[in-house]
Order: sequence, then C-alpha cells, then structure tokens
Amino acid sequence: MVENSIFYNEDAFGKLSEIIDNESEKFILCDTQTKKYCLPYLSSKIPTLTKATILSLPKGENSKEWESAIYVWDKLLKKNADKHSILLNVGGGVVCDLGGFVASVFKRGITYVNIPTSLMAQVDAAIGGKTAINFNGIKNQIGSFYLPQYVFIFNDLLLSLPKKHYLSAFAEMLKHALIADKKYWEALKQIKNTKTIINHQHLIQQSINIKENIVAQDFKDCKERKKLNFGHTIGHAIEAELLKNRKNILHGEAIAWGMLVEAHLSWQKGFLSSQDLEEINAVIRGYYYSLPTYYINENNLIKLIKNDKKRISNNSNITLLKGIGCAIINQNCSDSEIRKAVRFTFQ
Ligand code: GLY
Repeated sequence: MVENSIFYNEDAFGKLSEIIDNESEKFILCDTQTKKYCLPYLSSKIPTLTKATILSLPKGENSKEWESAIYVWDKLLKKNADKHSILLNVGGGVVCDLGGFVASVFKRGITYVNIPTSLMAQVDAAIGGKTAINFNGIKNQIGSFYLPQYVFIFNDLLLSLPKKHYLSAFAEMLKHALIADKKYWEALKQIKNTKTIINHQHLIQQSINIKENIVAQDFKDCKERKKLNFGHTIGHAIEAELLKNRKNILHGEAIAWGMLVEAHLSWQKGFLSSQDLEEINAVIRGYYYSLPTYYINENNLIKLIKNDKKRISNNSNITLLKGIGCAIINQNCSDSEIRKAVRFTFQ
C-alpha cells in the first residue's frame, strides 16, 4: 500500500534527494508546461535532479494516448533503462496516469514516483495507483492497478495554478468530506475562496488521507473504493453530454453538479434528511454558483448513465449518501428518480 509513502514539502525534498542520489537510472516524465514551470523549482532545491533524463509530452488530455506511451517506452529503451530504473512523474493527472501505466508494464514493472503539480492530481490522480491511458476516444480504457513507491507533495508547485483549477479540485475535496468525514466537511465550508486552500495545507493533507484510507481497504475497486465514485456517475454523464455538444465545463463543476443530483437521489431513497440535502445544496452552490451551467437533455443523460453502467455491471451501481460523511455503494436508481433529481438542480 502507499501508506507512509506520501511525503510533504521539506520531508519530500529529503526523500527525493535520496532517490536522485541512488545508483539507478532516473527518468523524469513531464509535459511542456511542467517542464517550464515545475522542473526549475524542483532542481533549484535539488541540483542533482538535472542528472535525470527528461521525457516531455505535449500538455493536455490529448497526450494520454497509446502513442505517448509508445514514445516513452521507446525513449526508455533507447536510453538503456533497465528494471532498476525509476520513473518520476512530474505533472497533473495526465502525466501521473500515463506515467504510472508506462511504468507498470515496462520490464514487467519498474518503480515510479508521482510528483503531482496540480491540486486535482494531489488529492486524486496521484494517489491510489490507478494508472491509465485513453483508448478509442474513451477515457481510461487501458490501465492497471500499480502503486507509486512514493508520492511527493509540494505546496509551492500549486502557486502558479489559475483560479479555476482550485475550484475544480475543490469538488473532489468536498466529495471526500461528504463520503467520509463530517468534521472535515465543516472545516471545508469555512473556505470562502477556493484559491486560499493552499494556505491550509492540513486540509489538503486530510483529503489525501481520506482517499488513502479508502484505497488501503479496497485497492482493486471492488467495494469500499466505489465510495470515491460519489458524484461521478452523473457527473461523468454530464461531462460527456456537454462535450458532445461542444460545451465546456470544468471536471470539478461536472462533479459538483453530479453530487447535487446524487444527493437528491440519496434523499429520494430516504437515506439523506431534508436538512442535509438543503445544506449540501447550499454549500455546493455557494462555490459553483453558476450551476447548472447549461441545459441538459434528461433522455440523453439517462442513456449515457446506462451505457456507463453496462460497462461495469448489469445493475445500477450509484454511490449515494447516508448522511454527511457517510456513503453507501451499489444503489439502484430508476430513470424517473434520476429525472426528478436532475430537475431539482434546475430549480
Ligand atoms: N478516482 C477514483 C479512484 O481512485 O478510485
């Protein structure tokens, strides 16, 4: 498990220096953006980092493809990487997911380390060992469960992120609170401007700990880990529907919207009190006040949710809430319940 393998700031520099100075060949996987903005920061603290071979991908989701994986494997082979080599992923979700996948099969698995450079990657993608690339236009279709040896979290790497990235990642933090920790929810509610979250490192750490604890109980995503899907069944369908219509929405906004719908479903099922539903609705809309961002066609949404479900199992398996801080997995929701819940978000 990744327990005790997450290091923060000064401790992370110490551990990273140890890795850089050991005998194995080091390769840094980054993208054009993190090469420009994050590597200089890391090498100013650890000058020997420049000994590592740098492999850079174009920035963005388009790099999370088979061709990029082949590019990295090819480079690793040409640079004589062996089974003792270490891959250091310096980037957001795309770099961490792709780098983890590349590492998981190269020479039947080499050591890799995640150095997430976005808040979203720090609280989600870099943690838990789900690696993947997109395939045939579908996200995360090819991948593996393969844990990083270490995750290094540097607060300063977040300083240059645009405001919308904080807002997007904050939805995942709210999700962690809603599924696992009411006290944490109370603490997050005090954050008025999501950009100021970087001044509250302990809240970022708490989010990471919640995810870590869940993953430790169910690495292969059979049971407990499904709690992390709260807001995502509907959120992913919203994202896909809007994308189809060439409308942009931040991932976190779609998840926030998905959480509103799924909180209403939880209320319809009698799991969530009216008071908790009102509170969740008010808090989430307080951050994502422009939700719902666009009109959504309910029929298309339901079709997308069904497609998603079919890929996983025949039954509906939506994660709902039993209260603030407590999730319940594998819930079956009818079309009419989903329609009602979606309409609730337009009120
Ligand atoms: N992002 C959800 C998970 O890691 O299971």
